Amino acid sequence: MKILVTGGTGYIGSHTVVELQEEGFEVVIIDNLSNSLKEVVDRIEEITGKRPLFEELDLVDARATRDCIKKHHDIVGVIHFAALKAVGESVEKPLQYYHNNIGSLVNLLKALDEFDIRNFVFSSSCTVYGQPKTLPVSEQAPLQQAESPYGNTKKISEDILRDTVNTGKLNTISLRYFNPIGAHSTAKIGELPLGVPDNLVPYITQTAIGKRESLRVFGTDYNTHDGTAIRDYIHVVDLAKAHVVAVNRMLNNATKEPFEVFNLGTGNGFTVLEVIQAFEKVSGKKLIYEFTERRKGDIEKVWADTSFANEELGWKARLGLEEMMNSAWDWELALSKHNKEQ
Ligand code: NAD
Ligand code: UFG
Repeated sequence: MKILVTGGTGYIGSHTVVELQEEGFEVVIIDNLSNSLKEVVDRIEEITGKRPLFEELDLVDARATRDCIKKHHDIVGVIHFAALKAVGESVEKPLQYYHNNIGSLVNLLKALDEFDIRNFVFSSSCTVYGQPKTLPVSEQAPLQQAESPYGNTKKISEDILRDTVNTGKLNTISLRYFNPIGAHSTAKIGELPLGVPDNLVPYITQTAIGKRESLRVFGTDYNTHDGTAIRDYIHVVDLAKAHVVAVNRMLNNATKEPFEVFNLGTGNGFTVLEVIQAFEKVSGKKLIYEFTERRKGDIEKVWADTSFANEELGWKARLGLEEMMNSAWDWELALSKHNKEQ
């Protein structure tokens, strides 16, 4: 059975392609390589022994998208990862974010409608909850005004999907990720931040390897046990496996509603300082860091109520913070070795 994975050479997409292939699915990837490298296809083949099909195209191009779906009309489902995701950049370039993230979704849905492909898994984010009033946050929590155009594209995309599902021609599972980190245990795929990373874990590993001078810890006056902000970090491989479960749920007609939403997190929150300590423990490296002001737009604390995903999907995150940090560090070491050899 063939699954289309958009954004499949990207960070979460590539790990998901590996898991899908290991479960026996055939995969076709669509990616425009705006934030990933074609070599990822080789790495996936090295890990799984199978080469996914690869279509280099921009989903913003409606005709190319339609032609591609026509060519692969035998796909039984789609996992849609392709999107731009840099929060800060989206504030600078909102129209680029709406054009890319909303335009690609609409083009893709139109093409799927034409070729009667009904199973759709969407990459959403816990950013839609803003700062929740109650923790852990469940799927029923009210959504809040997005902090950034990027976050708003996730809210709008969920609305577009809900409306499309109401036509009776589409089933959707929207997966709201908490903070994905870490890399594959082979260290052949992982996150490839271009330029200076925004996110905590790539910043930590780049500081430890000497690419960055020091890490800034944004905010020490949050209402948490050590004053730094709390997130629910989830290993990217656990996250990838949840996508396979979601696809199977649709293929087995096990969905209970045509539009379902699941939180994907571990259910545990860690502060920035706890993440740093876990990294120092597994790597044996002392990190250089300084405390600075809060980062604009950051929330204080969030972690997931995972009971719905655990019970309904029968999925649970297995890997802990140290495994996340260990794999992130192995990946940074592999990247650095690769760059030195170039
Ligand atoms: P990523 O940038 O590594 O992967 C996205 C991929 O989509 C890239 O390979 C990029 O080249 C491709 N792409 C972007 N626009 C495209 C277009 N118009 N046509 C074709 N390909 C296009 O990002 P990721 O971290 O793997 O994120 C995957 C999805 O998960 C995104 O939708 C993102 O918003 C969502 N998400 C990510 C996080 C996170 O922290 N990484 C958290 C919540 C949600
Ligand atoms: N942080 C630092 N120093 C850094 C980077 C981050 O202290 O150099 C702190 C942040 O202030 C925050 C925590 O580390 O408290 C996590 O920050 P990230 O940037 O790694 O992650 P965010 O929670 O801000 O956001 C990420 C993605 C969003 C996504 C969200 C939920 O960037 O796109 O997770 O999935 F929506």
